[in-house]
Amino acid sequence: MQNVPELNAQHVAGATLFANRADALAALPQGGKIAEIGVAFGDFSQVLLEKLAPSQFDAYDLFRLHEIETIWGKPSANVFRGKSHRAYYEDRFHQQLVSGQLRVFEGDSSAEMAQRDDGWYDVIYIDGDHSYEGVLRDAEIAARKIRHDGFLVFNDYTMGDHLTMSPYGIVPVVNEFCVNYGWKVIYLALNSQMFCDVCITRCDTVPARHHHFVTSALSLLRHRLRHCWTIFTGKGDRSRLREPQKAASCPPQSEKTESEGPNRKPRTMVETRAIEILRSC
Ligand SMILES: C[S@@+](CC[C@H](N)C(=O)[O-])C[C@H]1O[C@@H](n2cnc3c(N)ncnc32)[C@H](O)[C@@H]1O
Repeated sequence: MQNVPELNAQHVAGATLFANRADALAALPQGGKIAEIGVAFGDFSQVLLEKLAPSQFDAYDLFRLHEIETIWGKPSANVFRGKSHRAYYEDRFHQQLVSGQLRVFEGDSSAEMAQRDDGWYDVIYIDGDHSYEGVLRDAEIAARKIRHDGFLVFNDYTMGDHLTMSPYGIVPVVNEFCVNYGWKVIYLALNSQMFCDVCITRCDTVPARHHHFVTSALSLLRHRLRHCWTIFTGKGDRSRLREPQKAASCPPQSEKTESEGPNRKPRTMVETRAIEILRSC
């Protein structure tokens, strides 16, 4: 039995439970750059394309399923209608391929994805090699290839396939990311066979819906800090900072203020630290 780190309340704080993986896509950004690792027949690629309308969709797969005689109980030649796995997938998404929205990368997913720029993707859906080593390889490279505030979604967040009795490595990898590397759960999407999806992101990121608020707050803070800087040092245009709309009527810069010159009070430790911080901004 695989050693799996336990999640605690902070790893799932604010997480959402969805009835299924298609509904859960509502929690992810639309119009971004998406990758799916392990596309098989393209069934979930179709859902991702429809629901998230990505500007770029990259499909990663070994594309060798046509070499297997039977797939999920059916002869593979029938399933792929006599085509190779890759040809079948490319035919299905011919329009998106021609428009450049969709790209296909054939081969081992971790090796192929390593060739993309770091921070390129907004969302990566991981559903390829399900062994512990395979999931870890994909997760580690995917973590580098998403934006800092991007999302990793893992299919089959369960200890194994109870139908084929094959063990899976998804739960240990996801839990290790959360417990040891500072990630948290955004959602869990149920599945009738408990082949659930789990979505994680880095803990030190801000949800997209709060971006505007945080940006405004940071801008205000920076403005106030600049104001303090001018008081401590006497440098800069204090009046403009206080009343931006009256900048034209501010006294000229050459006029001295009470906070500078020989009469300026010695700085406290807090002032000194604040100045150091502001200088490094
Ligand atoms: C479970 S299927 C993916 C199903 C698909 N995501 C969906 O939901 O419709 C797993 C896929 O991963 C691919 N795969 C397995 N190991 C891989 C690897 N090392 N690199 C790339 N693809 C891999 C298989 O070829 C297969 O098509």
